[in-house]
Amino acid sequence: MTRTVTSVVGGKPVTDGRRAASTNPADLDDVVAEVVFADAVTFADAAAAAKHAQPAWADIPAPVRGRAIAHIGRAVEDNAEALARLVTREIGKPYAEALGEVREIVDTCDFFLGEGRRLYGQTVPSEMPDKQLFTFRNPVGAVAVITAGNFPVAVPSWYIVPALLTGNTIVWKPAEYSPAVSNAFHELFVRGGGLPDGVFNLVHADGEQTFAGLSAALDAGHVDKVGFTGSSAVGRKIGELTGRHLQTACLELGGKNPLIVTPSADIDLAVEGALFSGFGTAGQRCTSLGTVIVHESLHDDFLARFTKAVDQAVVGDPSGDVLMGPLLDQKFAARYEEFLAWVQPHHTVHGATGRIGPDNPRDGFNGDPARGLYYHPVVVDGVRPGDAIFDEETFGPIVGVTTYANLDDAIRLANAPGYGLSSSIYTTNPTEAYTFRRRVGAGMVSVNNSTSGAEAHLPFGGNGKSGNGSRQSGMWVLDQFTRWQAMNWDYSGRLQKAQMDVVELAPDPDVRLAQ
Ligand code: UN1
Repeated sequence: MTRTVTSVVGGKPVTDGRRAASTNPADLDDVVAEVVFADAVTFADAAAAAKHAQPAWADIPAPVRGRAIAHIGRAVEDNAEALARLVTREIGKPYAEALGEVREIVDTCDFFLGEGRRLYGQTVPSEMPDKQLFTFRNPVGAVAVITAGNFPVAVPSWYIVPALLTGNTIVWKPAEYSPAVSNAFHELFVRGGGLPDGVFNLVHADGEQTFAGLSAALDAGHVDKVGFTGSSAVGRKIGELTGRHLQTACLELGGKNPLIVTPSADIDLAVEGALFSGFGTAGQRCTSLGTVIVHESLHDDFLARFTKAVDQAVVGDPSGDVLMGPLLDQKFAARYEEFLAWVQPHHTVHGATGRIGPDNPRDGFNGDPARGLYYHPVVVDGVRPGDAIFDEETFGPIVGVTTYANLDDAIRLANAPGYGLSSSIYTTNPTEAYTFRRRVGAGMVSVNNSTSGAEAHLPFGGNGKSGNGSRQSGMWVLDQFTRWQAMNWDYSGRLQKAQMDVVELAPDPDVRLAQ
């Protein structure tokens, strides 16, 4: 029997709407769920429900909200395998990675459950006697969270866990192609955490209806903050819309993440890092490797070892031990084929490209490629600025390779596409590592490690086309979901005017030490 999943607004399912099937990208005959899509009005209603529920949620003491986060973490941990299996089935992420992704929710809960007992403000000295200054963190209000499906549970938790902990309520619009996973996540949070109705609302909707609903909700004053993970193009639209409402969205957008291989690098380590960065999650992370920038003296050696590793990597059924499963969904497969068409005559493509099948086979494929959206991993040598493959994010299993002559050159190439999410340098030279760190435009820098795989308690986010400077995770995300409030309390019994009624000391300007 196919399960039907619906939006949940104010604790109630929304059963009216267009119905569609969510299929397994590794086995297109496998219908994972039937989803009922809502419209803009439902999105706006959900925002109203969140706004209505927010004051009571904020009145619950922060340590008690922290306990809710502790319960959610435990519920996720107790259901980790079931949730990871559903992630693998609905979006085709290899099971080991799916389990890691579920772990990232638990890590996020572990970090924030204690924050309920901190959420520190400050006591600050006043410039006048008998007066005290303070700061408090206040929740922002109702938060709209719009997320992609490549990390259908970890990335939503980066928004939803700290937002709830700090006293905000949620309307969440997950990706259209991961609805069953989204409802499972929602159930673990609401039931597992004991959240009151309206605190965490879920809306399944397409992009157009979501945008219209968000716009209406902003007009009505029912959304106070937007968190968005997705493409740079949609991020710009959300940034514009929220900007008109004098809001700053938390934007986590695309990446064209570089990996530099220097002459001092351990080349096999760099190959291993490039393989996982480029083709783990079938290259569908915002942190996936875009271009390897290898020193010209190492180019042939690196390329030979890298392409050999790519040839030997196992592609196939994501429930097995594979580096790479299928693409996330038909939409992503179609778009990936457009990226493949960006290959130009001056590029050298290594191996087969396109969809894997009986007439385009791949050695060592695990399972039956005809069942799913499986593509060959592709290495394109000779890319350079001005080529779409070099300049733009190519979400999927394709990695470009280019060369550099000196570190200045490498850093210029790393920054050239104008994104700035993640980056990596393979080197054993500390000067190179620190120079790269200082001058690369990326929000995240790895030394001798993959561009992907950030830990859940460091600031995560990008610059340039990768975002507007917002940071998620760890203590840094608290600034997204709280506003500082400054308080001054004068108990002197008289009006003391700041900057005017301040005692002056009498320094001696002629002070000189005796010779
Ligand atoms: C994303 O693809 O949107 O750092 C997030 C990483 C993961 C998260 C990726 N922890 O690769």
